Order: sequence, then C-alpha cells, then structure tokens
Amino acid sequence: MTTKALITGASSGIGEAYADRLARRGRDLILVARNAARLETLAARLRAEAGVSVEILPADLGRADDLARVEAMLRDDETIDMLVNNAGVAGEGPFADADPAFLTGLINLNVLAVTRLAAAIAPRLVANGAGAIINLASVTALMPDGFTAVYPATKAFVLALTEALQVELGAKGVRVQAVLPGITRTAIWDQEQLSQIPAEMVMEVGEMVDAALAGLDQGEGVTIPALPDARDFDAYLAARAALRPNLSHRHAADRYRS
Ligand SMILES: NC(=O)c1ccc[n+]([C@@H]2O[C@H](COP(=O)([O-])OP(=O)(O)OC[C@H]3O[C@@H](n4cnc5c(N)ncnc54)[C@H](OP(=O)(O)O)[C@@H]3O)[C@@H](O)[C@H]2O)c1
Repeated sequence: MTTKALITGASSGIGEAYADRLARRGRDLILVARNAARLETLAARLRAEAGVSVEILPADLGRADDLARVEAMLRDDETIDMLVNNAGVAGEGPFADADPAFLTGLINLNVLAVTRLAAAIAPRLVANGAGAIINLASVTALMPDGFTAVYPATKAFVLALTEALQVELGAKGVRVQAVLPGITRTAIWDQEQLSQIPAEMVMEVGEMVDAALAGLDQGEGVTIPALPDARDFDAYLAARAALRPNLSHRHAADRYRS
C-alpha cells in the first residue's frame, strides 16, 4: 500500500517546500490550503516531475465545517501515515491595539486546527504503531519577549503539545517532531520588512525544509534548523528539567512566608 502525507498550508512557502521534498522522496500527497488554484498548479507540477499521486483538498482551517472535512480524511483514510501540520498565520501588531477578530483567527488556525488535526490522525497512527506528525512551531516559542505577544504564544503551545505527544505517542511507535524555523523567506513576511532584516538571519525556504527533514530522519523530536550546536537546546531542556523536583511542595517557598 502506498502511503500518503497530508500537508496543510501547502499552497505557498514552507508547506509548498515540504510538498516538493516529500514528492521527491516518492511520497503520495494530499495538499490542503484555501487557494485551490495554487494547490492544483503545484499538484500538476509534482505529478509531472516526481511521478507521485497528488490530491488537493481546498479548505479554510479556520472554518468549523472545513476543519471537520480534513479531520474526517485524517481519521478515515488508512493510507495517510504522515501529517505536516504547517498552516499558520502571523502578523498581529501591538497587543494593546489588537483586533479581537484577528486574534481569534490566529489562535483558531495556529492552535485549534493544529491540535484537532493531530488528534484526528493520532488514534490510527497509534493503532498502527507507526507514522509521523510534524508540527511547525517557530523559534519565537523560545523568545516570548522578543516578537509580538500572541503569535509566539501560539507557537509555544505547539512546542509544548509536541513535547507531550512525543511522550505519549512516541512510546507507541509514532514519530512526533516540532520544527522551529527562524526567519525564513516566505509570504508570511511583509517583503519590505524582510528586506530590512540582515541577510545572515534569513534562511531560504528549501534549505529550512531540507534541514527539518534531516532532523526527522535523525530521529529528533525538536529541530531548530539554524541552531549551530544542538547541545545548547539540550542545556535549555536540562535547566528546565532541573526545576521539576521543586515545582510542587506542601509549603510556599521561604521568600513568600512572613
Ligand atoms: N516564514 C517564517 O519565517 C516562519 C518562521 C517560523 C515559523 N513559521 C511557520 O511556518 C508555517 C508556514 O508559514 P510560511 O512561512 O510558509 O507562510 P506562508 O507562505 O504565508 O504560508 C502559509 C500557508 O498557510 C495557509 N493558510 C493560511 N491560512 C489558512 C487557513 N485559514 N486555512 C488553511 N490554510 C491556510 C496558506 O494558504 P492559503 O492562503 O491558500 O490558505 C499558506 O499555504 C506557519 O505555521 C508559520 O507560523 C514560519
């Protein structure tokens, strides 16, 4: 049986690059995004160039009915063994000026849809003891004080969810990876804004996805494509783990007691 990867946000940027790279690895694909014309153009190119089967599933993952259609496919299609949970938006301004409707859309896509799609495929992958869920977080998950307020918080959610799923699903043979890109040249950025960022901080999208897939191949749970020394992230995890024995005690710490 040929297995398929379902990629959300495949109509541009990182999702499109995942589609390209996975097709070249011989994987059949299901491409999800709102822009059906862009999905069909990409699907036609990949069928012709890579000889794989590519379906498109146009959907707005911010809409309950569309999200339910994609969930149903992940739940029911036995041939899907990989979810690339990539669709996401950014672009909020200062929190004090935030439009509540925009924040709702941001959280619905970056948090709710990511969670529900992972939950839709998880039971089948666990039952099969195989498969993969790749969640696109961001380095902003590690720097809540360095960007805007809500986007990094959504990505911290994705990272925390992924780490928890690694414990639960990883024990059952399912690979779960969080990818934390730094600044990557895609349409998520205002191009004028991007041109003002030092070039040495901006990665091309193909290089980013190649690195993320290399991390997956190496069995990494968290892949930070730009980080030169993986031991720096290990040290961060070790510092966090060192807090654990002291995070829950019968009495408050001395500094809080008069
Ligand atoms: N580029 C970066 O610097 C960077 C850094 C860290 C993390 N990331 C993360 O990487 C992921 C991909 O971003 P990108 O940089 O590739 O951005 P992008 O080029 O803007 O692509 C975003 C994709 O998400 C889709 N999408 C947006 N809203 C959607 C909706 N409501 N329903 C379904 N699909 C929707 C878009 O397609 P349609 O418009 O056709 O729906 C598009 O395919 C995001 O999760 C982002 O947060 C990006």
